Amino acid sequence: MPRPLDPATYEALAERLRFYRDLGLTDFYRRDVESAAAIDDPELGRSVAEELAEREGLLQAAIDAAAQSAAETPVQQPNFFAEEPAIKTRKPIQAPEIGAVVPAEDRAAALQMIRDEIGDCTRCALHKGRNSVVFADGSPTARLMFVGEGPGADEDAQGLPFVGRAGQLLNNMISAMGLKREEVYIANVVKCRPPGNRTPEPEEANTCSPFLFRQIDVVRPQVLVALGATAATYLLGARQPLAGLRGRVHAFRGRSLIVTYHPAFLLRDPRQKKEAWADLQIAMKELGLKAPARG
Ligand code: URA
Repeated sequence: MPRPLDPATYEALAERLRFYRDLGLTDFYRRDVESAAAIDDPELGRSVAEELAEREGLLQAAIDAAAQSAAETPVQQPNFFAEEPAIKTRKPIQAPEIGAVVPAEDRAAALQMIRDEIGDCTRCALHKGRNSVVFADGSPTARLMFVGEGPGADEDAQGLPFVGRAGQLLNNMISAMGLKREEVYIANVVKCRPPGNRTPEPEEANTCSPFLFRQIDVVRPQVLVALGATAATYLLGARQPLAGLRGRVHAFRGRSLIVTYHPAFLLRDPRQKKEAWADLQIAMKELGLKAPARG
């Protein structure tokens, strides 16, 4: 019995394909689609195979146009620190002692206690311009945790981390790993939005990051992914070039830490998505995850 595919499914497939291409995965194959080719879609008035072929053709044309425009744009040396100019750390950052293991069933309550302790925080100057204290999002028992820099305007408005454009890309990265956003834990180095989305000052980051360390110790993710140089700096305790930190596993508070680019940076320089995907694959290997089947 022929089964029509709805337009939303087509669009979801095309979006996924675009995302993999954005990540630099360009070799696609499709499993034998004879049965799909035979499906007639009454709404489209043609077969699924014809519709997909046209969509892939349109996609390819867009990719070619983007490549052409990139070729005509003067090449700039990628500046890996463009997203986070100067982190003025002179002294090594002191990480608090590792906290005791909290049983899985008590982790939500333990996190709530940390949130309560933060309260309506005025410990640093960032409180003056914020609307929300952006604590975290996700599972208190996550095996994977992402750490960003600090809330932006959307996060400040909604009170949740990574809900703007960079968050959309982070969601895509999470789903490319075969996970759901609700399965991971997401937090930032600072919990209040820096004015104009500037990099947090060391005083602000050092004041706030002990709470992040406590969140990490409660959740006890097997793997942490530091998104960008600010997260890497304040987790690892010293500023180092991102290029030298990426591509390997760091030991961190009894967990594994992987450093990759911040999604906001990837939005500005999508050519680096391939590199970010390579970093995420290291995280997946640590977690024993396989990428969901493409096709
Ligand atoms: N950038 C971050 O570093 N964190 C967020 O929550 C949003 C954007």
